[in-house]
Amino acid sequence: MGAIGEFVLRMPQNVVFGSGVRLKLGAHARSRGQRPLVIVGGTSLQESGELDRILGLLRSAGLEAQTFTGVEAEPSLETVERGRQALKEHKGDLVIAIGGGSVLDVGKAVGALGRTQEPVETFFAGQALETPGYPVIALPTTSGTGAEVTPNSVLTDHRQPKKASIRGEPLIPALALVDPELTLSLPREQTAYSGLDALTQALEAYVSRGANPASDALALTAIEHCGCWLEATCAQGPDLEAREHMSLGSLLAGIALASARLGLVHGMAHPLGALYGVPHGLVCGTVLPFVLKFNLQIAGEKYARAARAIGITDDPRDTKAAEALLEWTDELCQELGVGKPFKEYGGKAEDASAIVEATMSSGSTKHNPREVTKADAFKLWQDVLEGRL
Ligand SMILES: [Fe+2]
Repeated sequence: MGAIGEFVLRMPQNVVFGSGVRLKLGAHARSRGQRPLVIVGGTSLQESGELDRILGLLRSAGLEAQTFTGVEAEPSLETVERGRQALKEHKGDLVIAIGGGSVLDVGKAVGALGRTQEPVETFFAGQALETPGYPVIALPTTSGTGAEVTPNSVLTDHRQPKKASIRGEPLIPALALVDPELTLSLPREQTAYSGLDALTQALEAYVSRGANPASDALALTAIEHCGCWLEATCAQGPDLEAREHMSLGSLLAGIALASARLGLVHGMAHPLGALYGVPHGLVCGTVLPFVLKFNLQIAGEKYARAARAIGITDDPRDTKAAEALLEWTDELCQELGVGKPFKEYGGKAEDASAIVEATMSSGSTKHNPREVTKADAFKLWQDVLEGRL
């Protein structure tokens, strides 16, 4: 082991984890505000009765809550502005976001921008968000993005189209209330997609150029939990133990990537998501094996450690163990129903220059362990498009 050197670890503010912890929402909310805006996505929380239960908890705590519904997948800048308006009209002083990554990202942006007059476009164009906004409590209903602890919010400007993050410390939620029971009713497909996102994020954070010894500890543990339990969460029937492990894995991956950043999978995933509207986790699972192969020589030692942590192999030779990780990942993606040639998801060869340009300008790509040239990105897109691993 060599010298350690200097590093920064960006930590979440508060995390409360465990099955059933959402039932303590009233007390957590009351200590942070009086007039929460509750942000949710589609209708599933209403239909399951979960939203009524949450609103009941807030009422019992003496809080005046208003609900903001209808956050879409790949949320737009306009949705954030509508959320800000709703917070203002309600005279809200707290945001509670309950949902998948999209809902949490909108909730974080609405809270963080709550005290500034600047439009969201300013920050989407690259200006860092520094002024603290209103506190946000994030309750994830998927095990995927780790958005409950990250200092960014992924948004899409559908006019360009461009998918990118607004960034800044004020985007880190005041509290991540991670209750694995909230993920139990997630359908198999979304469980697989969000789980593949979590696994990809854990692997990318682990080998990133921005990784440090502390983020490595988090990322490797995240890889172990996601790698060992992802398939079980996608099996028939609710399995709370598996869901707990995936919730923990995605949480730890989120904390790791907040400091380490990501890599080439996410660098390419954002333009593909913006152009074709394909679910983020499906894109991650489809591109991941290609990027593992691309990075194999440079990141082989860490990939080998990841393979051993998941229990894929006990081969002491790093080259063999890293190859085993690639093979296992490819098989897992196929098993979970992703990884078709991207042309079958709507990908078009003529979009190559737009995709390559966006991939090259992405901060994630800049953190990939192996340097990426334009020619590399072009070849990667051709291979992903045709499914040529
Ligand atoms: Fe992701």
